[in-house]
Amino acid sequence: MLSDKTILVGVTGGIAAYKAAEIISRLRKLNAEVQVVMTEAATRYITPLTLRTLAAAPVYWDLFGEPKTWNVEHIALAQRPDLILIAPATANTLAKMAAGIADNLLTSVLLATDKPILAAPAMNHHMYHHPATQANIALLKERSVQFIGPDSGYQACGTDGDGRMKEPAEIVAAVQAYFTGISELRGKKVLVTAGGTQEAIDPVRYLTNRSSGRMGYAIAQAMREAGAEVSLISAPTHRPVPAGVKLIAVTTAVEMYEEVLRGYADADVVVKAAAVADYRPDRIAAQKIKKTGENLQLDLIPNPDILLELGKRKTRQILVGFAAETEDLIAQAQAKIRRKNVDLLVANDVTQEGAGFESPTNIVSILYPDGRRKDIPRLSKIEIARILVREIAGILEEKQKE
Ligand code: CTP
Repeated sequence: MLSDKTILVGVTGGIAAYKAAEIISRLRKLNAEVQVVMTEAATRYITPLTLRTLAAAPVYWDLFGEPKTWNVEHIALAQRPDLILIAPATANTLAKMAAGIADNLLTSVLLATDKPILAAPAMNHHMYHHPATQANIALLKERSVQFIGPDSGYQACGTDGDGRMKEPAEIVAAVQAYFTGISELRGKKVLVTAGGTQEAIDPVRYLTNRSSGRMGYAIAQAMREAGAEVSLISAPTHRPVPAGVKLIAVTTAVEMYEEVLRGYADADVVVKAAAVADYRPDRIAAQKIKKTGENLQLDLIPNPDILLELGKRKTRQILVGFAAETEDLIAQAQAKIRRKNVDLLVANDVTQEGAGFESPTNIVSILYPDGRRKDIPRLSKIEIARILVREIAGILEEKQKE
């Protein structure tokens, strides 16, 4: 049941708009409160009156109309729901979302909201496979929009192909699954580390690595979506901090070590996605080092191994480590599980196309101390993060049973 949920259904202008009626009706039968926002094109396919009657609530589509009560309508609509479902989502609306265009009430709501968005695309298969549409979908996935379908099959234009909207029952099931999934970590305290630490050489130079922070930020976001209280201890990155996540900014491995230990006693889960520099210069030159024409030697001293230390001090926390390898992935990863006393290890071969640093996608294997292993195919980092959250929720559940 969806009794305590408000769902904003965005209906855009494609022939599948007629199926929005069934979606709204099914959501209502599950006791959800439904708000409906249509594009003007959608009102040509199905009348607002039909949807208003099924939703048992006013339907909105006019950005400039006289509001029924005084508020800035697109902002109020953007803030209220627990979830926004766009069904059908046309190629045109997806393109506007990707570009941040707000030229009607629905796209304005979508630009103004920080609520989760599910989209059920519906379009002709040529439009679906067009590189512009594919790029827009990839970008939106990276920004956390979740997609339901599309399906393949008969299309209203008389052809067969990808781009058919999923059936209303499946779309509503995906909405329900979303809400079941997200309560998994409610109230749990999670520390996530991300980014590549920077180890100063002198006032203008530092040693670092290729980490972009994408994987760690995606994990923080997925943890938050699942209801956790998330602190993100991050080395410098260019990534936006996910909504609802507390950022603790650090620069060096030693600073990260101190912050992680500070939060450790209270944490239920620690995910160490950061690429921590194993070494730092033994001293930081006070002034910029001048070139002399001679060879320059840097002496490096070991940094603390944060994860190893956490593994030693572990009481009830779930520890999740990462292993970025360039050879013997699984054997190296298995050795790290034991050495660092982790409950789950995410291993990736950073030399693979579509995996590792700077890539929006990753290919990982999830390894458990008992030898179980799950190989995950190439997926966006946020999709991998959501899979990890489910695995971690599973470990927590097992622990609670003990
Ligand atoms: N890690 C850490 N502190 C370090 C180095 C690594 O906490 N000083 C953590 C990373 O955040 C990651 C895991 O340990 O979760 C594995 O990191 P990786 O660089 O793959 O392994 P290393 O421990 O550095 O081992 P090696 O250099 O032998 O590959």
